[in-house]
Amino acid sequence: MPIDNEIKGKLALITGASGGIGAACARDLFANGATLALTYASTKLDPILEEFKGQDGDRKVSAHQCDVSKDDDLQRLFDEVKKEHGQHPDILVVNAGYGKRTSDILDISIDEWDYTINVNLRSSFIITKLAVPHMIEKAWGRIIYISSIAAGGTSLNGCHYSASKAGVQGLSKNLAIKLAKNGITCNDVAPAMITGTGMLKDEEALKGTPGDVKNIPVGRSGSTTECANVVTMLCRTGYLTGQSILLSGGLK
Ligand SMILES: NC(=O)c1ccc[n+]([C@@H]2O[C@H](COP(=O)([O-])OP(=O)(O)OC[C@H]3O[C@@H](n4cnc5c(N)ncnc54)[C@H](OP(=O)(O)O)[C@@H]3O)[C@@H](O)[C@H]2O)c1
Repeated sequence: MPIDNEIKGKLALITGASGGIGAACARDLFANGATLALTYASTKLDPILEEFKGQDGDRKVSAHQCDVSKDDDLQRLFDEVKKEHGQHPDILVVNAGYGKRTSDILDISIDEWDYTINVNLRSSFIITKLAVPHMIEKAWGRIIYISSIAAGGTSLNGCHYSASKAGVQGLSKNLAIKLAKNGITCNDVAPAMITGTGMLKDEEALKGTPGDVKNIPVGRSGSTTECANVVTMLCRTGYLTGQSILLSGGLK
């Protein structure tokens, strides 16, 4: 089988591109030649769209409003992407996510549990199901989920967040085995303490928590660019599948 790790000319759909990690992934995949379809829920994408203007002959970058907790929005997103780009995505970065700082199970309502599972896990299944037919037809695809160190237990958020992210890792590992024969790889990046994001503004926000930089072996928080580097590497490395890459500065 020939090796094809080319990103140039491929269409990448990145959810949550209005956030810190999603925007960094958009920048890096664009720099590597991909065409982009980007989603946001409530924060408009205008600043990042502005960055791409005039670059590389105005290579297409489309923006789509989508609340991933709503099934109809996910279907509409795929319809819009097909209309704008004439195809469905070759690369899927499932990044949009929700988490609220809570440590005590008694503070987590059942509604909060359901919403967290819907946004982080249920939508990951639905969006993957929508994306896979095109990838099978092309015999090429890259699916990258942004999970979390929380999947293994360590988290500033509650058990519902950890459960949702552990579910995403299971989804990814199972699909990696099932879809390998179709030329599709599935991996997840499990970040920890990535600042410059809506979830974690800066290192100050980590003081006195398990994520305090004094507890991180490399002695600092991670950057959104470092997260994007790993996502792009996974797109360019078709021999790597079914893996969960812990991006945590050595934090366990
Ligand atoms: N920062 C970290 O240290 C860290 C660590 C582990 C995992 N993660 C994961 O990394 C991913 C990206 O988060 P981030 O750190 O970049 O934080 P962020 O800047 O707050 O970005 C979160 C993104 O998710 C989108 N989003 C939230 N709820 C949504 C919904 N219901 N429907 C559609 N989009 C929704 C937001 O859209 P709008 O802003 O448009 O509403 C935003 O684009 C998440 O999955 C998060 O769990 C982050």
